[in-house]
Amino acid sequence: MRAPMVAANWKMNGSGAICREFLEHLSVDGLVDVVLFPPFLYTSRLSKGFEERSISVGVQNVFHARSGAYTGEIGAEMAVDAGAMYALVGHSERRNLFGESDEVVADKFVACQRAGLTPVLCIGESFEERAGGEAESVVRRQVDAVLRAAGIEGFANAVIAYEPVWAIGTGETARPDQAQSMHAFIRGVLMKFDTAIATNIKVLYGGSVKASNARELFAEQDIDGGLVGGASLEIMEFEKICRAASR
Ligand code: 13P
Repeated sequence: MRAPMVAANWKMNGSGAICREFLEHLSVDGLVDVVLFPPFLYTSRLSKGFEERSISVGVQNVFHARSGAYTGEIGAEMAVDAGAMYALVGHSERRNLFGESDEVVADKFVACQRAGLTPVLCIGESFEERAGGEAESVVRRQVDAVLRAAGIEGFANAVIAYEPVWAIGTGETARPDQAQSMHAFIRGVLMKFDTAIATNIKVLYGGSVKASNARELFAEQDIDGGLVGGASLEIMEFEKICRAASR
């Protein structure tokens, strides 16, 4: 059985004061894996503060090299040093605003696993791609690039987040049946290579998840929880989303 997971992607939001508020007040029961992805700067503080509770911390990005002359970048090993256990790779904002190609994303996925971080591979199509009937082929291409770099074994210790770009920060959410259909498709792609890995991998949904829509999304068979943006910065709203995933 796949344990549900709810992850908070704070993006470039948050502050020392918000970290303190979360450390003092965030309370979730043990039936859901909760991961916070704050801006890198706050990784250490949150990972130390949440050590005793079952809440993990991850980073929103890594660079593929271990070290070197890459001003401003942070390697996966450094993220581990700061207490991170997970890393987002290939978030659509990284792909679209920072020009990360499928191959760059795949290199980052491999770098995470080399360092012992669990990658959360973000994939998803744009509005135009869905309108053009290309949603599945885009997602397939994004998964294939990682399969080429990491092999199917790479997915044995990874999480996938399906985040349709048209639903991110727009208030528009994929309908549960639409999301379910894509989640089943993604699992099906992996199923052709390894049934156990495909069955066990968590596939999260991201894109305007809120307390008001979480329960119906998470009720779908192949939706194992959510990757939450805007709504994850409000403690009570986020706790409700965690409860909606809790089994
Ligand atoms: P929103 O929940 O704000 O739509 O963001 C989703 C997202 O990008 C999570 O990674």
